[in-house]
Amino acid sequence: MSAAGLQFGFIAPGAQRADLGATEEADRRTATIFFCDIVNSTQLIAPSDPEDARDLLNGVMDVMVRHIQHYGGTVCQRLGDGVYAVFGAPAAQENHAVRACAAADAIVREIARGQTCAVRVGLCSGEIVWDGSALRHQNGSPAVGRAVHAAAKLQQASQPNRVRLADSTAALAADWVDMRAADLVSLTALDRIGTFELLGVRRRRLHRGQQLPMVGREVLRRTLSSALAALSNNPETPAAKPAPLMHIVSGEAGLGKSRLLSLLAAEARWRGVRVVEWSISAIEPVGAPQLLQELVGELLDCPAGGSAAESLAAILAAGVSHPLAEALAGLLHPVADISPAAATERLAMAARAVAELAIVAARRRPILLVVEDLQWVGSELLAVLCALLRRCRGEPILILGSNRAVRPPEILTEAGEVRGHVLSPLNAGDARALLDSYMGRDPALASIKDELQRRAQGNPFFLIECVRVLVDQEALAGPVGGMRLGTPTSRRLPDSVQALLAARTDRLAAAARDVLRAAAVIGPTFDIGLLSALTGCTVPSLPLAGLSDAGFIDETRLLPRLEYSFHHALMHEAVYEGITRRERQRLHGRVAELLEGEHFAQLPGRLAAQARHADNAKLWPVAVRAGRAAGKEALQRSLAAEAVSLFALAVRANDQLPMDGENARTGIDLRLILARAAMPAGDRDRALAELERAVELAHQTGDEDRALAGLVQQVSYEWVYGGLHHALSLADRALRLSGGGQPSSAHPEVQILAACCHIEAGNLEEAQKLLDLADRADAWQAHHPGRFMMVDCPMLIAIMRARCQLHQGLDASALMQQALQRADDGSYPFNRIYARVYAGEILQRQGRYPELLALCNEALSISAAAASPLLDNVLHARRGLALVELGRRIEGLAEIEQAEHSAAERGAILHASLARYCRILGLTRIGLLRDAEQERLQLEATVQRYGYGLLSRFLAEERQLLPCETGVVAEHTYIGPGD
Ligand SMILES: Nc1ncnc2c1ncn2[C@@H]1O[C@H](COP(=O)(O)OP(=O)(O)OP(=O)(O)O)[C@@H](O)[C@H]1O
Ligand SMILES: [Mg+2]
Repeated sequence: MSAAGLQFGFIAPGAQRADLGATEEADRRTATIFFCDIVNSTQLIAPSDPEDARDLLNGVMDVMVRHIQHYGGTVCQRLGDGVYAVFGAPAAQENHAVRACAAADAIVREIARGQTCAVRVGLCSGEIVWDGSALRHQNGSPAVGRAVHAAAKLQQASQPNRVRLADSTAALAADWVDMRAADLVSLTALDRIGTFELLGVRRRRLHRGQQLPMVGREVLRRTLSSALAALSNNPETPAAKPAPLMHIVSGEAGLGKSRLLSLLAAEARWRGVRVVEWSISAIEPVGAPQLLQELVGELLDCPAGGSAAESLAAILAAGVSHPLAEALAGLLHPVADISPAAATERLAMAARAVAELAIVAARRRPILLVVEDLQWVGSELLAVLCALLRRCRGEPILILGSNRAVRPPEILTEAGEVRGHVLSPLNAGDARALLDSYMGRDPALASIKDELQRRAQGNPFFLIECVRVLVDQEALAGPVGGMRLGTPTSRRLPDSVQALLAARTDRLAAAARDVLRAAAVIGPTFDIGLLSALTGCTVPSLPLAGLSDAGFIDETRLLPRLEYSFHHALMHEAVYEGITRRERQRLHGRVAELLEGEHFAQLPGRLAAQARHADNAKLWPVAVRAGRAAGKEALQRSLAAEAVSLFALAVRANDQLPMDGENARTGIDLRLILARAAMPAGDRDRALAELERAVELAHQTGDEDRALAGLVQQVSYEWVYGGLHHALSLADRALRLSGGGQPSSAHPEVQILAACCHIEAGNLEEAQKLLDLADRADAWQAHHPGRFMMVDCPMLIAIMRARCQLHQGLDASALMQQALQRADDGSYPFNRIYARVYAGEILQRQGRYPELLALCNEALSISAAAASPLLDNVLHARRGLALVELGRRIEGLAEIEQAEHSAAERGAILHASLARYCRILGLTRIGLLRDAEQERLQLEATVQRYGYGLLSRFLAEERQLLPCETGVVAEHTYIGPGD
C-alpha cells in the first residue's frame, strides 16, 4: 500500500464509522499514524483462486484490525491489502505512540507465527489536522500532515515482518519499547527522517535519564558482561565450555542489585539479545497478568491470552511434546479441580514445557531472563527456573537474578550451576563519587557529604534519599549535579531509612499523601482503577504525575490496565508503616469490599488479594471465604506454596469465629486441604500438625466422615515419615471408621493403604486379605469419586508387592510388567516412579542387577523431569547397590551413602532404612563384613523400633546366606519369588 494507494481505499464498516464521527470539527493534535500492509500481496494471491485469495487477505486484515482496536487505535481506511489507522484521534491518548507500537508488535508476531505471508508496518508521530467528517467520504483521509506521508513511506522501507518507527515515535515510546537504529529514509529530496526498527514492547517502563551514573561495581559488571557477550556471540552453536546458566546478585536492600541488572539488560538489548524481565512482588499485584502467561506469550512470540485450545495449538506448533504441552496449557487455563500432588506434577511438567519453548526461542535469538527479588519467589517461577537450569545448559540463555538473602533457594542450586555474587556497600571513594555526581563539586558541600557518608555506610539508596530530604528541607538548592548550600536547617537527618522516608512523605500536600497511603495499602504495585475507587478521586484527578516526579512512584504498566509501583520497595514499606493501625484497617477493609464488586471481578489475583486485605481488616468471614477460594485457585494453578499460605490464612481467620457447626466443619476441611497442599510443598511438620488438629476437631464435633479423611492422610504420612506401629494403628482406626466398625466393608482406598502398611510391616497375609477385599470393590470407585484418589494403579502395585513377598508361586515378572504397564498408561509420573521402586525391590531380591540399574535410571529420569523427588533416595540407594554388584564399587557405595544421608535429613526414616539395607548388602559384597555387621545391628534396632517387618525379614534372610567367618567373601545368590 503506497501513500498514493490511499485514494483506492474503501470506507470501513458502518459501526466503526459511527464512533469516528465523535469529533466533527477539524482540529490540530499530536497523534501516531499507522500503516500496515501485506508484503508482495500481488504475487501472493496471483496463483490462487479468487475466493481463496479473498479469504487470505481478509484473514490478515482481520488480524490487523483486531490488534489496532485492542490497543485503542482508530481504523481510518481498509485498503486492498492493508490498513491505515491513527492512534490519538478522535479521542486524544497520552500514550498514542506506545499503543501504536504495541499494536504493530502484536500484528507482526501473529502474522510471523502463521507463516502464510509477511506484513510490514510504518509508524510516525507528529502533528496532524484531524477532520472526522472526512470519514464520510469514500476517499477522504481524516488525518492530514507530514506524519501521514512519512508513515506510509516508512512502511515501504520496512523489511518483511518488521516495524519501522520514525524518530518522533521512537522518542515518545522510548521508555516502553526496545528498538535499534535503522537507515535514514527520504520523504523528499530535502526532507529525510531518522528511523528505528522495533524489537519489542517492554512490560515495564524503562526510566532513562533519571538515574545518576553508576559508580563502582566494575569487577562484577565485567564478569556479567562477559557472560552476556558469550551469549550473543554464539547464538546458535553451544559454547565450547558451558558457563553457569544463572548468576544471582545478592545483598541488602538498596545496595544496587536492580540497578546493576537493569544496566546489564540495557547492554543485552544493545547486543541484540531478547530480554525477558520478571519482577516478583512481595504481594501479588492485583490486576497484573500472570507471570507465566507473559513468559509463555513472549517465548511464543504472541501476546498471552486466548483459549486453552489456542494455547495448546501454539505450544505444540513450537515443537513441545504432547504431554508437556498439555500440562502447560492446563496450567495457563486451569478448569477442573486438581489434587495437590497432581498439581505439583503438572507444574513440573509445564515448567519443562517452558524450558523447551525457551530453547526453541533462544536458538532464534539469545535470551536474557532477568528475575528480580528472588527472596519472594513463588512456586511457579521456582519450578520454571529449576527446569531451565536442568535443561538449558549450553543453550544461548542466561538468567540473572537479584536476591536480598545471600543464599539462593537451595532447590535452584541443586538444579544446576548457579553462581552467586554478593554486593557489599560502596567503598568511600565510590560513595563520594555518587554524591559528587548528584550534588556537584562545590567545596562548601564537603562537610555535608562527610556527614551523609558517615550516615549511609555505603548504601547508595540511603545516600540518594538523604540528599532528597535535604533538598526538600531546602538545605540544598540548585539542580542535580550543580547544588549549593541552601537555607541552614536545624533539623537533623533521621537515622533510619524508615524515618528518612517518612520525613519525605510528610512534606507532601495532604491530598497527595492520602493517595500515596491508599496506594501503599493496596500494595507495592497497584492498579490505578482500584486506587481511584479507594480514594474516590477520578483517574485524571489522581496526583500521579506529581508523585512520580517526586520520585515516590513510577508507571510500570500501561496495558491492559494502567498500573503504578512504588519507586522502591523500601519506599512502600515506609509509607505503609507510617499509616496508623486504625486507618490501615479501614483502608484494607474498603479494598476487600471493592474487590467483591462487579467492577473488579475480572482482575487476576483478585481472590488472593481480597483474602489478604480482609485478613488485615479483621473481616474474618470474608478472609475465610476468599482465602479458601484463593487457595483452591492457587492449587489449580499448581502453586502449592501459595496455596499453603492462603489456606493457612483462612484457617487463622476461621479460628477467630465462634466454633459452631458450620465454622467447625470449615475449620476441619481447611486443615485437611492445607495438609494436602503442605506435603507436596515440602512442609512436612506443618502437614502433620494440621492433620492431627483436624482429626481431633472432627472427633470433638462427632464428624466421622471428616475424621476418616484426616486419618487416611495421616496414615500415608506416617508410613514414610513416622513409625509403622503408629501408621498401622491409625490404619486400623481408619478401617473401622470407614467400614462402620467392619474393616471388610471399608472403602477400598483405605483397605489398600492399610494393606501397604501391613506389607511394609511384614504382615503379608493380613495385607493379602485386605487387597482381596479391595479388589472386589471395583464398583466403589465408580460410585464414590471425590474425596479419595484413584485406587487403580496403586492397588496393582501393592498387589504385586504383597504376592511377590508371599512366595505364592506367581510369576513375579509378569505381575511386575503388568504394574509397570498400568502406571505408564496413566498420566501421573508419580505412579510411574512408584511402580519402578517396587519392581526394583523384586529385581534386587532376584539379583537381576543390570535390569535393576536400568530401571532405577529410568525412574530417576522420570522423577527429575517431573520434579517429583519423593522416592529418589530409595532409587539412588538401589542404583548404588546395582553399581557395586556390577563392579563399580566405590561409586556405588558413595551413591548409597549419599542417599541414606539425604533421606535421614528429610526425616524419611523408612527410606533411610531401605538405603542402609542396600549399604549393608554392598559392604558385604565387597567383603567389608565387619562394617556390614555393625550396620546391621544398628539397622535391626531401627527396624524393631519403627516396625519395618518386611525389611527385618529381608535382613534375616540375607543373614542366613552370609559366610560364617568374617573376611571371606561368599558368592551368594538371591532367592526371590518366581525363581
Ligand atoms: N553503584 C551505584 N551507582 C549509582 N547509583 C546506585 C548504585 N547502586 C544503587 N544505586 C541507586 O540506589 C538506589 C537503590 O538501588 P537498587 O534499587 O538497585 O537497590 P536494590 O539492591 O535492588 O534494593 P532492593 O533489594 O530493595 O530491591 C537506586 O536509585 C539506584 O539507582
Ligand atoms: Mg531491587
